[in-house]
Amino acid sequence: MLKLAQTPVEPTPVPQHVAIIMDGNGRWARARGLPRTLGHREGVEALRRTVEAAGKMGVKYLTVFGFSTENWTRPVEEVDALFELMRLYVAKDLERLVKEGVCIRVIGGRESLAPDVRDIIVRAEQRSAHNSALRLTVAFNYGGRSEIVRAVQRIAADVKAGVLAPEAISADTFDLYLYTHDMPSPDLVIRTSGEQRISNFLLWQAAYAEFIFLDVLWPDFDQAALESAFHEYRQRDRRFGGVIRDATN
Ligand code: IPE
Ligand code: IPE
Ligand code: MG
Repeated sequence: MLKLAQTPVEPTPVPQHVAIIMDGNGRWARARGLPRTLGHREGVEALRRTVEAAGKMGVKYLTVFGFSTENWTRPVEEVDALFELMRLYVAKDLERLVKEGVCIRVIGGRESLAPDVRDIIVRAEQRSAHNSALRLTVAFNYGGRSEIVRAVQRIAADVKAGVLAPEAISADTFDLYLYTHDMPSPDLVIRTSGEQRISNFLLWQAAYAEFIFLDVLWPDFDQAALESAFHEYRQRDRRFGGVIRDATN
């Protein structure tokens, strides 16, 4: 009897670190005649789907932009609603995420956050610190420029204290002073909602990331959208300043 060879299906490689600018909640709500805050609530559902899908597909690092240093300029009711959603997300999802092996990290300025939000962040990080299946980093009160300025201040302080020599400062040293010091740079940055800008997200870290801009509004984002981004990512030729990979030479 003819025996079919059991060739194992190779899992399609996925980017190791995916970063997402979750944009379009307000437009999603407006299109339905709903208040913007309901768009943000649906945005949390999309985040839940995305964390699950990314974990299943083998992504190791998922970094999402939840609140920027510039988002403070929004109406106070909207800012309050975003903070309330952060509280609810952790309250509802933390134990499940811990069980699923997710390690949670929050990057961004903590000083200007309400004390209870700071406590929630510390608890989520401590409860999930031992996990390693997926690192979920939430950029909250995050801005790339202030992250870089903070790194410069800390470097200057170490130079002043005599523990760092100015000539020892390299790009690798600089990395160590960023919030993201213990993770690789993003391979892929996805932005939803059709906007094509970086909006102060991971300015240093995204130096060689691939960018994919999707027209889908964040509350409609799902596994299929993530898969379509990965499909496009696989067609890209990452050169890092080198030469084109060409099979003929
Ligand atoms: C993204 O959706 C969520 C945050 C910035 C917190 P937006 O609220 O920016 O939605 P649009 O861009 O107004 O549609
Ligand atoms: C970026 O989106 C911030 C987050 C997704 C949290 P914005 O909606 O704030 O960015 P702009 O204002 O369109 O550049
Ligand atoms: Mg927006």
